[in-house]
Amino acid sequence: MITIIAAAGLNNELGKDNDLVWHLPNDFKRFKKLTTGHHIIMGRKTFESFPKPLPNRIHLVITRNKNYQPEGAIVVHSMEDALEIAKNDEQPFIIGGGEIYKIGMDFVEKIELTRVNNAFEADTFFPEIPSDKWELISEVHHCQDEKHQFDYTYQTFLRR
Ligand SMILES: NC(=O)c1ccc[n+]([C@@H]2O[C@H](COP(=O)([O-])OP(=O)(O)OC[C@H]3O[C@@H](n4cnc5c(N)ncnc54)[C@H](OP(=O)(O)O)[C@@H]3O)[C@@H](O)[C@H]2O)c1
Repeated sequence: MITIIAAAGLNNELGKDNDLVWHLPNDFKRFKKLTTGHHIIMGRKTFESFPKPLPNRIHLVITRNKNYQPEGAIVVHSMEDALEIAKNDEQPFIIGGGEIYKIGMDFVEKIELTRVNNAFEADTFFPEIPSDKWELISEVHHCQDEKHQFDYTYQTFLRR
């Protein structure tokens, strides 16, 4: 099941200046738990936002640059090529950013979205999730605490 995993603010904010705009340790843990052992498909900008590749995941990085050869990643030039490489993985994840989510929406059956309950200044946004195409099947709310500055909700959507 090809899955998008993302965290977005109330107005679909994803990030600013090639970084995230919140720090939610439990969401990082959830991301790690869900994606470990799988292929993770991302845009070149998201890959470059990491200090280093994430352990125990196969990184597929989409770029138009035919000369791009980063350490720790397989380079591809389209979503189709990424999914072909990941075809034996029962759950490859599309992990962003904004440009790649937009392309990925047509390919996925599932969206794991962490909705961060706040508005942010951002330059990158998650696409709309139209309710006629997507069914919200699970929603788990968490309140802010000393480690989490904002309320957040784990939402799982399946394609109708
Ligand atoms: N909140 C979240 O869950 C989350 C998750 C991930 C990322 N983010 C945030 O999102 C931001 C980055 O997102 P972004 O939209 O700027 O960039 P991105 O989607 O990570 O990467 C964009 C790059 O992907 C490549 N690309 C895009 N379309 C392509 C196509 N059709 N064919 C081939 N290559 C293509 C291009 O690379 P080249 O320029 O090399 O050709 C393009 O510059 C950062 O702020 C990051 O922190 C947030």
